[in-house]
Parts: sequence; C-alpha cells; structure tokens
Amino acid sequence: MDIEKHEPVMAAEVVAALAISEQGIYWDATFGRGGHSRGILARLGAKGGLVVMDRDPQAVAAAYSEYGGDSRVTIIKGPFSMLGQQIKQAGLEGRLQGIVFDLGVSSPQLEDPARGFAFSHEGPLDMRMDPESGTSARDWLNAVEEKELGDVIRRYGEERHARHIARTLIAARSESPIETTAQLTAILLKALPGYERHKHPATRTFQAIRIHINRELKEIEDSLPQAVEGLAPGGRLVVISFHSLEDRIVKRFLRKAAKGDEYPLDLPITHDVLRPQLKLLGRAQRPSKAEVNINPRARSAVMRVAQRTEVICA
Ligand SMILES: C[S@@+](CC[C@H](N)C(=O)[O-])C[C@H]1O[C@@H](n2cnc3c(N)ncnc32)[C@H](O)[C@@H]1O
Repeated sequence: MDIEKHEPVMAAEVVAALAISEQGIYWDATFGRGGHSRGILARLGAKGGLVVMDRDPQAVAAAYSEYGGDSRVTIIKGPFSMLGQQIKQAGLEGRLQGIVFDLGVSSPQLEDPARGFAFSHEGPLDMRMDPESGTSARDWLNAVEEKELGDVIRRYGEERHARHIARTLIAARSESPIETTAQLTAILLKALPGYERHKHPATRTFQAIRIHINRELKEIEDSLPQAVEGLAPGGRLVVISFHSLEDRIVKRFLRKAAKGDEYPLDLPITHDVLRPQLKLLGRAQRPSKAEVNINPRARSAVMRVAQRTEVICA
C-alpha cells in the first residue's frame, strides 16, 4: 500500500459546491495530500489564487513538492484555529470566494506506523497531527489522572465503558508505561473482550485520545467564525465532517449564523434586522454509494455548504 496516498472524499461535490470562478481566491484549510486543492486549481485561471494550509509538516512538505512552483498557490503551515490571523496577514479578509475544510486525519497519517494513530499498526504512541508541537498521546496517557482519562474517553469516544477502561489503563501503566499503539491495543482488548460486533474494541478509545491530543473539536469551533469573516459576499464555505461530534458543531454553527442575531421571541423583528452572516445552501450531502464502494473512508462523510450573505452589515 502507498502510505503517501490520500483519496479525496466527495471531490467532485466540493468543487461543485465552491462554484469556482477563474479569478477567485480560495483557501483549502486541510491540504492533506491536495485532493481538493487539485480540483480547485484545475478550474482556476492564471489570475486566480489558492492558499493551502495544514498543521502537519508532512502535508506541508507534500504541498511544496507539488505546488511550490505554482505562482497561484501560497502554502501555510499551521492549525486552522489561526485561520483569521493568517487571512489577515495575507490581506484577504472579506475577499475569499471559498474555503474548504475536510476534517479529521488523512490516510498517510493513519497508515504510517511511526505516527501512532492506528491500533492496527505497531508504532510509538504519538497521534499528533503536528509532531512539532503539543503533547504526544504517550506523554499524556502516562500522566493523566483517572477522572480526566475517563471523561475524555466517554466524551470523545462516546464509549459506554469509559470508566472501566480508564481504571484498567491506570492500573496497567503503574506496572509499565504505555509506550506503543500495540501495548494500548492489547490492554483495551483485555479490558473489553469484543463487546461491539462490527467495531474493534480499541476504536473508540483511539478516536477519543486522538481528538483530545489534537484539540480537534475546539479547533473547529474556533475556526468557523474566522472562516466566515474571511469570505467575500457570496463566498462559499464547505465543510466535510466524519463523525457526529464534528458534524454537530458544524451544523449548529451554520444554523446560528444563518439565523442571525438573537432577539426575544415576542419582538416583531424582520429578517433583514437579524443580519444573518450565512445562507445555507441545500441540505447535508453524503457521498454516493459508488464512491463509498471505492473508498470506504468516505462512508461516514457529511458535507455542509453555506454562502456568505451579500450585504455585510457593520
Ligand atoms: C482528511 S485530511 C484532508 C485531505 C485532503 N482534503 C486531500 O484530499 O488530500 C485532513 C487534513 O487536515 C489536517 N488538519 C486536521 N485538523 C487540522 C487543524 N486543526 N489545523 C490544520 N490542519 C488540520 C490534517 O493534518 C490532515 O492533513
């Protein structure tokens, strides 16, 4: 298997949702291996622009190697919670025709044992999308208190047996530190012998630790309002989520921004006074069956699209 490859999810749908204009400026907040960027660039003219961003140094290196020589492309390494600052620095506030977020981890991250994301590959327990900053899963797991560990596993793994797992992990690490994905998997397998038919017992706990280590949900909450500020009137925001925790944040944010300011229910307020920042474009979309057959990673994808309102009120 080529661990450098990432099959983009809903690539045609993303390009259609962005309604790309040849001279527009676009922002891919999750470059990965550039599947969505490639689709955007294929429709951009010589005067168009694309900023690509990723917090993973390997993704950024891939962007330089593929697009370092393309004068339309600007490459930024960083978390998308810094989107607003990056947009300002680039002088693009209120000028972007479209921003795309394709959330979660990429195949190269999951498939490379050295990154420590997958319970199916033996490797050091790291799980950072940006190994150059923050705390590794190993350091966190070997220091965290039982209560916090249980909370993380329950909240981000939606795991019923979170307390039991936390207790088991704390007991295991008092005998020897948990250093590798294989060690963690073995402890989880022992703690939860096959209680879900179609899910490996380690799935939920690995997801929870990954979300916690990368502050994934906070990153989304922080970046969405910044993305809206970056959009030009009529500009499009496209977000693909891969699990309900992500999608819930996206859905709530978009609905609220499309509703506008809050007023007491009994006040006779008209729509224009509410100053909505976004207009929702269609319902949530899912990948076609054909795509899921070819790329099972697309199975849980949900794409939501919104458009910046034409009149931006002060
Ligand atoms: C699902 S992959 C994107 C794949 C990409 N669309 C493609 O077609 O190749 C998600 C990417 O977003 C990056 N990412 C996730 N959360 C991020 C964040 N908060 N800030 C910056 N990059 C992030 C990951 O490092 C990963 O490379």
